[in-house]
Amino acid sequence: MDIKKVVIIGSGTMGSGIAAHLCNANIPVTLLDLKTEISEKAREKIHKSRPPLLIDKSKINNINVGNINDNFDVVKDADWIVEAVVERIDIKHNIYEKIFKSRKTGAIKKKKTKPQ
Ligand SMILES: NC(=O)c1ccc[n+]([C@@H]2O[C@H](COP(=O)([O-])OP(=O)(O)OC[C@H]3O[C@@H](n4cnc5c(N)ncnc54)[C@H](O)[C@@H]3O)[C@@H](O)[C@H]2O)c1
Repeated sequence: MDIKKVVIIGSGTMGSGIAAHLCNANIPVTLLDLKTEISEKAREKIHKSRPPLLIDKSKINNINVGNINDNFDVVKDADWIVEAVVERIDIKHNIYEKIFKSRKTGAIKKKKTKPQ
């Protein structure tokens, strides 16, 4: 499957690190957080990071930012949705419920793994 668009929910340590890797791979990514200012700050941090997270700083344009209330619709077009919010099970349940209502058929979700 071709991954052309990714949405990452939660733009902290994990979310912004994953966003930087996708950015380097030229895959457009949208970082969503509680407020757009938070994901905007995360994007700035990626851009200014030392040692650099980006191979080429111009790749920062692959990262869009937004917030989960006004911009959740981006999930509808995503091929892969990454949940990277704070470690709170109630918050994660709520996010997954919203993702499952919005994601398109075929978008990547967590697979059940067989026990070894
Ligand atoms: N940091 C690590 O080394 C690490 C390693 C493995 C797994 N994890 C897991 O990854 C997840 C994220 O960890 P982190 O270290 O990036 O946390 P973090 O605290 O750096 O970032 C969490 C982000 O989630 C945002 N957030 C909180 N509630 C939200 C909501 N309802 N909607 C959208 N965004 C929301 C916060 O504003 C924050 O920006 C956690 O489940 C953590 O256990 C982290």
